Amino acid sequence: MNFSQSLHIAIIMDGNGRWAQARHQPRLMGHQAGGRALAEIIRNLQDFPIHTLTLYCFSQDNWKRPDAEVQGLWDLFDRFLKRHGPEMLKRNLRFNVIGRRDRIQAKIVRKIRHWETQCRANSGPLIRLAMDYSAKWHLEDAGRLLTPEMDYRSAIEKSQNGIYPVESVDLLIRTGNESRLSDFLLYECAYAELFFLPMAWPDFSSVELAQVIDRYHQRERRFGALPLGQVAQS
Ligand code: IPE
Ligand code: IPE
Ligand code: MG
Repeated sequence: MNFSQSLHIAIIMDGNGRWAQARHQPRLMGHQAGGRALAEIIRNLQDFPIHTLTLYCFSQDNWKRPDAEVQGLWDLFDRFLKRHGPEMLKRNLRFNVIGRRDRIQAKIVRKIRHWETQCRANSGPLIRLAMDYSAKWHLEDAGRLLTPEMDYRSAIEKSQNGIYPVESVDLLIRTGNESRLSDFLLYECAYAELFFLPMAWPDFSSVELAQVIDRYHQRERRFGALPLGQVAQS
């Protein structure tokens, strides 16, 4: 593993429903399996050159799903915070939830705030969960919050309840065999390297994460400049 550069990795954890349906199980079983996959990644995070890991848990458009699935997902997030909050604290991880908070159940918002505060003094990688998140909504909201003295990035931070700075994404992974961003981190992904994987999220593990990071290091990021070592022809 190349540790010379520490990365912001973002993951669209997609394919839970289809994973379950392929096993003749209810979709919620897929979300539970997805929670276990996420727990495994968090458990092994110290083995990776990652400073920030942003995970798409629930989009603003996911409210359109049937009530039972929506409720099941929020129950799962509630249990996840209860179980993995102490673990994040112990593993020296920092923690932040980005997204709207006014539509999330009060007991879950309390847990989010509690673990954000508890993990604040930690110095390790930052776990950011995107819940009731929409990049477009935050970009529009940032526009409303902007004052003449404020730069746009700061307005986005404010909108996202960001207690940490908005960092550009280096590498974005989407599982579930779809090649789209689905309203995730549109500003932060301006120069992200994108990896769309056919596998469903519950089948993803730190083994696949290591492989994607190796593939990332084979790409050349140019940020609009000429390839490294190439002399301009003029
Ligand atoms: C992603 O899995 C998890 C959430 C959106 C919460 P999906 O539930 O979208 O799974 P598929 O895409 O239907 O298989
Ligand atoms: C994106 O997946 C949201 C999350 C993974 C939380 P969706 O399954 O909601 O996205 P679309 O509908 O396929 O674009
Ligand atoms: Mg999906």
